[in-house]
Amino acid sequence: MERIRITGGRVLAGNIRPAAAKNSVLPLLAASLLCAKPCVLRGVPRLSDVDASLALLRAVGANPVRRGPDILLPPATVCGQVPPALAGAMRGSVFYLAPLLVRSGTVEMPLPGGCRLGPRPIDIHLAGLSAMGAQITESDTAVILRREGPLQGVDFTLRLPSVGATLTLLMAAACARGETVLRGAACEPEIADTAAFLRKAGACIEGAGTPVIRVRGTEGLLPGGGVHLPLPDRIAAATYAAAVAVAGGRITVTHCRPGHLAPFLRFLRTAGCEVAAGPESFSIARDPDTPLWGGADLRTGAWPDFATDTAPLAAAVLLQAKGESHIHDALFQNRFACAEGFAAMGADVRAEGRDLWIGGGAELHAARVTAPDLRGGAALVLAALAGRGTGSVMDSGHIRRGYEDLPADLAALGARCTYVKTLSDATIKTAPAVQMR
Ligand code: EPZ
Repeated sequence: MERIRITGGRVLAGNIRPAAAKNSVLPLLAASLLCAKPCVLRGVPRLSDVDASLALLRAVGANPVRRGPDILLPPATVCGQVPPALAGAMRGSVFYLAPLLVRSGTVEMPLPGGCRLGPRPIDIHLAGLSAMGAQITESDTAVILRREGPLQGVDFTLRLPSVGATLTLLMAAACARGETVLRGAACEPEIADTAAFLRKAGACIEGAGTPVIRVRGTEGLLPGGGVHLPLPDRIAAATYAAAVAVAGGRITVTHCRPGHLAPFLRFLRTAGCEVAAGPESFSIARDPDTPLWGGADLRTGAWPDFATDTAPLAAAVLLQAKGESHIHDALFQNRFACAEGFAAMGADVRAEGRDLWIGGGAELHAARVTAPDLRGGAALVLAALAGRGTGSVMDSGHIRRGYEDLPADLAALGARCTYVKTLSDATIKTAPAVQMR
């Protein structure tokens, strides 16, 4: 268990560059298994989900090598057995279904883990792969996929635009026999990024980033490899912007694609922040002595709507704003587990299933709270930037799944915020007299 110690009340200033997007890097690592030649991913952050992906790659026989910020992925012979601990460590393990099925003909995968945002079925991944000819056996805890001969191109309509399922089917289609048309596909920027990588390796893909994707399969491995710089992380960029909205100050987020977080920047503008966006950077300012306006009624949705991952960040911004606000998350049933931590800091909040009601006008104070998931944990850190006194966000590892060192990023902008090693559970059990602060 780690904790992040935050002392509120500091105004932020400076420039910051977001790392490469976790949600691009994870499928790209899996997609490298489809390439006959070596691949290199540039500028990959040291996230725990990346470490788990590298461990998974090694467990199936691949040999990824980290060289500073880059990861080299030489071609290798792989097997389709995914160890339960690695499948359960992250949702991103689902990205290995298609590549391992293509590569080894059989995949045995315990069900993927990840943030507990509510039920996260994989039925669309499986329905699409089944339509391409995979035989599927499911139990309560695992799934086994087999193919005889190459996967077949299909015309397949996703019942909803799942990001993960679109990526699974894109990877499968790239190596299938014949043409695939994916309809109702997710359009998030990370889909087009993965398609760009696959194209460098020789895939024929049109329409990635739109609801209809057409793929001409290579009937086996992609002939090439390639060097790829993944997209900048739009959710990390939104996190830094939200930090200024909460704490006040002025920062510039560089080397990012402001268009990828347009709904979030619009929301911050409406709340009273000054936002100036160019093609590859944006600056944001907020006078700490002037309260923001609440009264927001936000609803998350698939791209290009308000991103679900930014909903808890928006909530952190609205806690002190003047007026009541409401956020509805259309994607996940338990997006607002962070509400308990907000309330402990003095916020007037009520979470019920997919909805969060925020009373607004809170005077936040320091508290010791627990990160319930990745973005909820980040939102608690942001809220603490505005709290009186020194508080802590206890974290069993959620936040490092998506941010290499969020406190260090915020500290570089002037926040008083750091990771503090805390006593392990074992130490606490054997020495109950020791008080954790
Ligand atoms: C990806 O999750 C991201 N994770 C999530 O980021 C992100 O919140 C989400 O997309 C939405 O943008 C990764 O890329 C690793 P979905 P994913 O499939 O692929 C339902 C973060 O904090 N669904 O688009 O799991 C599902 O239950 C994380 O970085 C099915 O019903 O999201 C959900 O309600 C958290 N059946 C909705 O679709 C399926 O087979 C959207 O899920 C698949 C999904």
